[in-house]
Amino acid sequence: MIVVTGATGTLGSLVVERLLEHTPATDVGVSVRDPAATQDLADRGVRVRHGDFSAPESLADAFAGATRVLVVSAPLIGAEAVRANTTAIDAAVAAGAQHVVYTSHQAASSTSRFTPQPVHAATEQHLAGTGVPFTALRNGFYASTVPMLVTDALESGELLAPADGPVSWTDHADLAAAAAAALLGDDRLTGISAPLTADRTLDLAEVAAMLSDLTGRQVVRRVVDDEAWVDAQVRAGVPEPRARFALTMYLASRAGEFDVTDPLLAEVLGRPTTSLRDVMAGWLAAR
Ligand SMILES: NC(=O)c1ccc[n+]([C@@H]2O[C@H](COP(=O)([O-])OP(=O)(O)OC[C@H]3O[C@@H](n4cnc5c(N)ncnc54)[C@H](OP(=O)(O)O)[C@@H]3O)[C@@H](O)[C@H]2O)c1
Repeated sequence: MIVVTGATGTLGSLVVERLLEHTPATDVGVSVRDPAATQDLADRGVRVRHGDFSAPESLADAFAGATRVLVVSAPLIGAEAVRANTTAIDAAVAAGAQHVVYTSHQAASSTSRFTPQPVHAATEQHLAGTGVPFTALRNGFYASTVPMLVTDALESGELLAPADGPVSWTDHADLAAAAAAALLGDDRLTGISAPLTADRTLDLAEVAAMLSDLTGRQVVRRVVDDEAWVDAQVRAGVPEPRARFALTMYLASRAGEFDVTDPLLAEVLGRPTTSLRDVMAGWLAAR
């Protein structure tokens, strides 16, 4: 049985759908904090069990009988995130999983300027140390982040943000298909994968030009001083820790940490990756 965690989330739910295209529902399980939220999967024959990374005892039951487990990185920060991710990995190993797949990030590094990356690096190290065959999916930066960065700009015509750098914005559905491939045994992904990215990078000036083109309304990119940007975020009601967390993304992109593309994702998909332009066009159409 393949067990997927995070199955109520955007990535995990897409992974389950991809798996169900290739394998009987009775061979798929999900480990979720709220089983009622995945009643539709239970109705389709998927095994639904309660599993919470912060309650290790729940994971023994959630992972029982699993040959492969997808540990979707917890949406937490710092030591708490490392603890949650490594608890889930250890539970998968204890349950007898023969292969553990973890959703890492293309820029995982202990020295990254972006807050989540040392968490991924520490989790990858723990995973490699288990001795069980593993895949750390070095997922590209979610393209779904871009709408959050540009919503205000669509109203004002000015994309105000700290200095940035190129990012290989990558589609959730493409990454979910790669995760499903890893769970189904695609050994091109085994170990610490190559970066799983879209085929080009764009900085925010290019994103602004793309938005102008897609909407027919000019959006101008303007660079804002880091501290002035944090102040403006706080004045707009964003808690300061969250604003400072977001600033680390700009610091990292400015340093070129996300200026990476690799053909592996397209090779695994057997088709070109989804462009940011297509993601943004879909988002604009749905607004
Ligand atoms: N590559 C990137 O650019 C990027 C960007 C942002 C985040 N990420 C990482 O990628 C992960 C998946 O992305 P996503 O878009 O699917 O996120 P998402 O939609 O927020 O889903 C997160 C999932 O984690 C589950 N979860 C939260 N706390 C948990 C816990 N203590 N134990 C077990 N499960 C827990 C949530 O379950 P509930 O429904 O119970 O809350 C949910 O199913 C994120 O969690 C984050 O670590 C990557």
